[in-house]
Amino acid sequence: MNIVEEIVRLKRKKNAIILVHNYQRPEIQEIDDFLGDSLGLAREAAKTDARIIVFCGVRFMAETAKILSPEKTVLLPVKEAGCPMADMITAEELRELKEKYPDAKVVSYVNTNADVKAESDVCCTSANAVKVVKNIDAEEIIFTPDKNLASYCQQFTNKKIIPWNGYCYVHERITKEGVLLAKKKFPDALLLVHPECNPAVIDLADEVLSTSAMVNFSKESDKKRFLIGTEEGLMHRLKKENSGKEFYTAGTAKLCRSMKLTTLNDVYLALVEERYAIELPEGIIKSAGRALEAMLKYV
Ligand code: 13P
Ligand code: SF4
Repeated sequence: MNIVEEIVRLKRKKNAIILVHNYQRPEIQEIDDFLGDSLGLAREAAKTDARIIVFCGVRFMAETAKILSPEKTVLLPVKEAGCPMADMITAEELRELKEKYPDAKVVSYVNTNADVKAESDVCCTSANAVKVVKNIDAEEIIFTPDKNLASYCQQFTNKKIIPWNGYCYVHERITKEGVLLAKKKFPDALLLVHPECNPAVIDLADEVLSTSAMVNFSKESDKKRFLIGTEEGLMHRLKKENSGKEFYTAGTAKLCRSMKLTTLNDVYLALVEERYAIELPEGIIKSAGRALEAMLKYV
């Protein structure tokens, strides 16, 4: 059996689409119907006509797809594929913070669990966080869970941002020292970093971009060399879509364990057994849906 051919056959037979995040393994990126960042994937999930969405990414992304398309079956091929940053804040903790700052509105990064989204006014992704923060009708903003994305947004507004203390362990490992060494080695390269990086790394960057924005930026740029400050999985797409350009890791390679869990066999079994379907309480889908729809209106 050729597993890729089987996946394609099952996908057609069952009217399924495969959505893939930019950090997934190369062989998973190769079987995509849509490959993108969190924002692109959310939009795609909201508009698809397919009966089944197979989500190759992490749980919060599959939950986002389910919330935006509740009538569809959304499958997460590996049920343990969670995001440690999303687990850094609970709905209970957010409710307590809201009581402390009753005038503040809540902006939650999509990298949150569904019950936290349900307690939020609007969601954001790395691609639109600054826009959401600027446009939301509030002078005080509780921003969860990523302290680094919160501090990046604070640079663009005089509003008071109250950050939660969460972070991505993968991007935290990208250090100023590592980046400076890479810059020394490739002095003519442009440094593109993800806003989940810490402020010392962001300060060194030429551009601060979401994963898909890094792909688009490097395509349009007339520069030839780039240093990339994000999870290593993006390198496959950057190199594939930019022949003739050079991409180097800003420091040593950083891998997200959860993003690497999904294999072709998991996708195949997900399609055969229609496993593991995302289930969420109706009330959570409704409230979290409001916060996600609010985000989609801003962009
Ligand atoms: P984007 O692809 O939306 O930039 O997000 C990166 C990320 O960490 C997703 O887990
Ligand atoms: Fe979560 Fe970081 Fe992995 Fe993204 S890269 S899924 S934020 S742990």
